[in-house]
Amino acid sequence: MTDPAFTEFRTLEELHAAAAARVLHCGREALAVRGRFHLVLAGGNTPRALYAELARRANDLEWALVDFWWGDERCVPRDHAASNFKMAWDAWLSGAGLTDARVHRIRAELELPVAAKDYESQLLTEFGAQGPAFDLVLLGLGSDGHSASLFPDLAVQPGQWVVGVSHAPKSPPERVSLSEKAFAAARNRLFLVTGEDKAQALEGIRRRTDAPGSRIAWAAPSEIYWNSGSTGV
Ligand code: 6PG
Repeated sequence: MTDPAFTEFRTLEELHAAAAARVLHCGREALAVRGRFHLVLAGGNTPRALYAELARRANDLEWALVDFWWGDERCVPRDHAASNFKMAWDAWLSGAGLTDARVHRIRAELELPVAAKDYESQLLTEFGAQGPAFDLVLLGLGSDGHSASLFPDLAVQPGQWVVGVSHAPKSPPERVSLSEKAFAAARNRLFLVTGEDKAQALEGIRRRTDAPGSRIAWAAPSEIYWNSGSTGV
């Protein structure tokens, strides 16, 4: 078992630059070795600035060869302000010259069980019966220790690689999420954690609590990039 690797950054800008460099490094390695780069995007607000940074690095990787997946999605239409797809699309992907075949959107506008099954079948079609082997998964962390849409003490609709979440404490209540098993099966995991309000959840990972974010971070080698939100001035 490899302990999670924590890196604290003095400023948000430094964190985002390092995270972009990490995405590019994993992408170059995956494309060189396997000819594909399966990248799982995180939702919420924290990754927005990273996606904008990666949008500025249009020439640093063959983005048209990248397969984009999502770690979770809220059960809203794809053009809804709360959509994790929309956040990444507006901040980055709309200008990246991608083909639809490489954008594996969670169709969370469908009924929850149907949406979860649909995403799972996308994964099995792409990776085969052995399930997903993502090259890099980006993850956020909630102040309660949740990650993606896996919340503490919240039962999920069972699924091997994808689960349905209802009654999530963070609005909206219905979500589709990759399972802990899917996150653990990835080659690399990178958590982006910013803001004093996450300090306790971050400490929870250090202490290896049973919160989902901690379980994911400890299940397989993970990196955690942290900034308290100070601008460093
Ligand atoms: C979501 C995210 C969620 C997010 C954390 C942190 O769909 O809400 O997947 O897990 O990463 O809640 O959110 P912020 O980055 O907005 O603080």
